[in-house]
Formats: sequence, structure tokens, C-alpha cells
Amino acid sequence: MNDDHAFDMQDTAAIREMLSGSGYSDRAIDYYLNQPNMGSLPDADQVSELTGPCGDTMKVYLKVDEGRIKDARVQVLGCPGAVASAMVAMELIKGKTLAQAHTINDRDIYRILQEVPEKKVHCIRLSVKALQKALDEYGRGNGDNPRGG
Ligand code: FES
Repeated sequence: MNDDHAFDMQDTAAIREMLSGSGYSDRAIDYYLNQPNMGSLPDADQVSELTGPCGDTMKVYLKVDEGRIKDARVQVLGCPGAVASAMVAMELIKGKTLAQAHTINDRDIYRILQEVPEKKVHCIRLSVKALQKALDEYGRGNGDNPRGG
């Protein structure tokens, strides 16, 4: 019944209200509830995991073809800010070159999320760091420098 969605309708309304009250924009809440790009890629070229100081963990999966990110997913064990940020990070890198993906920063993600509680800004940082780690590790494993240098 509910296989594709993490939450049912009643939960959704309650969660939306709670998150909105704590300072998340509707857009950020949508990312948290819909969770596009959540999950794994069985044929990933790179899998990298990062745990932040808060204990939340992100595992990034990249599918790369001729220097371009064909697909990206992420598994998140973390707070709504972590989930929403990671979803946006994956969305932003799809179709980009490795060098372009490397330029994505906290502000790019914040701009799309529009608003998160002040105390959740570090969750955006974690998603960027997890992404950068995956790109760096992919670059090292493939003998090139994704920063383009
Ligand atoms: Fe850890 Fe949000 S509290 S990433």
C-alpha cells in the first residue's frame, strides 16, 4: 500500500506542521517527505560514507560515465535537515561533470531549501562534505582530479 512513501497521509500532515513550526520551509519539508534520490545504486562506481559530529550518517552512491555523474543516490540516517539537504545535493549533481559537482557548496543547497532552522545549518554542511568525500574518493580511485586541477 505504502511501499513508495515513507509516511502515510496522517503522518504527513502532522510532520509537516511540526517541521513548519520549527522553521523548515515548505520546500525543505517536501524534500524530507518525498525523499527523491534516497536509496542505493546497485551498480554504483563509487560508494562513500560519512558520519558527522552529530552522529548522523550519509552514504553516497555515484554512477559516473565519461567524467559525468549519470546518477546519484544517498542513504541517510539522520534528522530532517540531513535528509532534505542530501536529497538536494544529489539532485544538483546529476548530469554534472565531476569538476562541476565539486563546486556545489552549502549556499547552493540552502538556496533551494529556502529555510531551515538555524540549528540545522550544519546538516547542510554534512551533505556537502559527504558529497565531496565521494567525489574525492572516486577521483583517487580513478587516477584523476575531480577538482579539475
Ligand atoms: Fe546531524 Fe542534522 S543533526 S545532520
